[in-house]
Amino acid sequence: MAGRDISREEALSRLDQKHACHILLYADSKAKLFGKIPIKHIVLMQMRFDGLLGFPGGLVKPSEESLEAGLSRELQEELGAAVSVSVNDYVSSHLAQSPPHLILHFYSKKITESVLLEIERAAVSNAVDHGFEVLGLTRVPLYTLRNGGGLPWFLSHSFISNSRAQLLEALRRLELVSPQNLEEAVKKAEEMRH
Ligand code: GTP
Ligand code: MN
Ligand code: MN
Ligand code: MN
Ligand code: MN
Repeated sequence: MAGRDISREEALSRLDQKHACHILLYADSKAKLFGKIPIKHIVLMQMRFDGLLGFPGGLVKPSEESLEAGLSRELQEELGAAVSVSVNDYVSSHLAQSPPHLILHFYSKKITESVLLEIERAAVSNAVDHGFEVLGLTRVPLYTLRNGGGLPWFLSHSFISNSRAQLLEALRRLELVSPQNLEEAVKKAEEMRH
């Protein structure tokens, strides 16, 4: 996805443009798939109304609210839970090429497994957007099975805007997947898409 990264300062100087904030929420976990494959971390994304994968979050109005307050408001709508977001959770800003003039701010925040499980429940039982703008929360499989199942198949799906790049960058930066496993998963995903 084309476009370019810009600084928070440059982003906030462009108040005439549209801004959106999205967040990667994650937790450590000791749970095992099939009782043997450690899942290690739980990373949340969502299936959007348009059939694309993306992160929870949405449009904010920096002239009326802080980026973080706007993101918290979107999370209340889409997750049905209060998630406090601070500037410490800010990661990057991106000037999207399509739609033009949209500035995309990205956040990541580590939470406990029990809080994450509560958010998953609230997303179904409490979120006003459930079944409408958001079709469901989903976890990202971070492992790769021998047949290529897991992260490679997940990455072969279709993602909104630059959310796939946001995911890959975060998995690397937060060390949720080793650089080698990530590189191999991206390569496998590429083969699957062809
Ligand atoms: P409404 O409440 O219907 O207005 O939607 P929203 O405020 O929740 O906005 P949405 O989450 O769709 O985000 C606004 C725009 O940001 C989208 O049209 C996409 O172009 C882009 N976008 C959506 N999700 C993501 C994401 O996870 N990452 C990135 N980089 N961009 C996204
Ligand atoms: Mn949204
Ligand atoms: Mn929304
Ligand atoms: Mn909105
Ligand atoms: Mn909305």
